[in-house]
This record gives sequence, C-alpha cells and structure tokens, in this order.
Amino acid sequence: MKRKLISVCLMMLGGALASTGVNAQSTEDGIAQYREMLEMGGNPAELTEMEGEDLWFEERGPKNASLEQCDLGQGPGEIENAYAQMPRYFEDADKVMDLESRLLYCMDTIQGLDPEEQADKAISGGSDYASEMEALVAYVVAASRGVEIAVPQEHDKEKAAYERGEQIFFMRGGPYDFSCSSCHAVTGQRIRLQDLPNLNEAELAQRAYSSWPAYRVSQGSLRTMQWRLKDCFRQQRMPVLKYASQASVDLTTFLAVNANGGTMDAPALKR
Ligand code: HEC
Repeated sequence: MKRKLISVCLMMLGGALASTGVNAQSTEDGIAQYREMLEMGGNPAELTEMEGEDLWFEERGPKNASLEQCDLGQGPGEIENAYAQMPRYFEDADKVMDLESRLLYCMDTIQGLDPEEQADKAISGGSDYASEMEALVAYVVAASRGVEIAVPQEHDKEKAAYERGEQIFFMRGGPYDFSCSSCHAVTGQRIRLQDLPNLNEAELAQRAYSSWPAYRVSQGSLRTMQWRLKDCFRQQRMPVLKYASQASVDLTTFLAVNANGGTMDAPALKR
C-alpha cells in the first residue's frame, strides 16, 4: 500500500518535472523541495533495499541457497563497507569485479543461477518494480552509507583495470567523436537541464560517484552504476555497453579510485 502510494506520488512528480522542463531553476528547486519532503518519508529506494534484504537471505536457484555465503571482499555474508571498497580483485574468480559482476558470480556459483540469464534481466524496464539485481544492489550499497570510499589498487589486476578504465574514459569514438571526457571534463557544463559533472576534478568526481546507485524520480526506479555507464555509452553514441563486461568494470574502477576519500551517500535520489 505504502509502495503504491509512493509510486503514484512519483508519477505525479515526474509529470510535474516534465511540464516545468522549460525552466531549469524551477526544476532544480522542485527537486530540492521534493528531497526535503522525502527526508521526512524516506527515499523510495528504501523499499528496494528492503526487497534486496529479503532476497539476500532467500534460498533460491537450483542449489536452493541464500547469498549468505557470498563474499564481497569483507568475508562471506559481510556487506558492511563492502561497496565502498569495490571494484576489487577476487582470488576465487581471479578477476577484478564490481558489485554487479560479483553478485552474478555468487548467484552462479552459490545458487546455480545462470549468469547470462541474470544479466539479461538485471536492468528493470522502469516501473515501480525493481529487478532482483537492483534490489540486491540497493541492499548492499546502503550498508556503505557514510563510509569512506577506499577502492584498493594493490593487486596488479586492480592497477591494470584502472589503466584500461582511464583509456576508455579518454578514448574518442562514435559518430560525434566523443569520449567520456568530452562531456565530463569541464566544470559547470550542462546539456539541456542536466548538470554534467567534471569527473576529472576530485571533489566533483567524489560527489558524482558516491551518489550512485540512485533512485531516478524520472524513471520511477533505482538505477545502478552499470545502468549509469550503459546510458552514458548511449549518450556517447557508442555500441551498447555489455552488462558486467570487463570494460564496464574497468571504467567503474577508474571512476571509483578517483573518488577515493569521498563518502558514500547512496542510494541517492536523482532527477
Ligand atoms: C554526450 C555527453 C555525455 C557523454 C559522452 C558521457 N556522458 Fe556521462 N552524463 C551525461 C549526462 C547528460 C549526465 C547526467 C544525466 C542526468 O542527470 O540524467 C551524465 C552523468 C554521468 C554520471 C553521473 C553523474 C552524477 O553526478 O550523477 C557519471 C558517473 C557519468 N556520466 C560517467 C560517464 C562516463 C564514464 C562516460 C564515458 C563512457 C560518460 N559519462 C559519457 C552525458 C554524457
């Protein structure tokens, strides 16, 4: 019931935002006001977090197991601070993994769920129903709220992931010859109503990274970092970024390490 009510409010807000789209200031004011309103009632992402908590402990898949044996880098089942220290190298997989590719790995090895199938349905269509992946991500990420971002760069593969991520960030391509940095290397730049954070400036990079995943009011659902990058690839007119691919993990590593020292504040609430 609470959930229905919130989703109706959000749909109304989405409509209101769309109709005030001609005036940037009023849209931003609207969001600020809405944030204040929500501080009393909570971010709707909290509902997704609760779903994720249930899913984490639910025995699922052919192996009928919960994710309590899933090691996100802090020991099996430990979610506190885990997101603030990912992507990181995992010895069992011999790979650097972000949260989403690690969850796919755990679903596969612990629960026997097919990772390709899970990846295909990881991004919800944008309704009031989060995907299972989005719910699990919300649950894990919330356990790093207020925690300092400290993504490791010890292992050779962690350093290599960062370097590849950096190359992808500055690589130009697509019909407009854009790189990530074409849109994200100038302070104060915007596209239509949207602020484009300068991701090369430490403080702004921290603020941007620490606020994802986020509940997107305009889409009525929680969006993860994988979604964020996929959508920016689209804005860059590049080929579709494959979910949980090495390139996506590398880019996330680059952004996350640059945000080290910042404080996690996600799931946040976004336009
Ligand atoms: C054509 C311009 C464009 C390109 C190229 C682009 N982005 Fe973006 N990016 C945006 C816009 C616009 C937003 C804000 C979207 C919004 O507010 O809905 C954004 C938002 C982001 C955010 C979240 C910022 C925040 O504070 O919420 C991150 C992180 C990001 N982009 C990373 C990247 C990466 C990495 C690449 C390269 C793969 C990239 N972007 C390429 C336009 C672009």
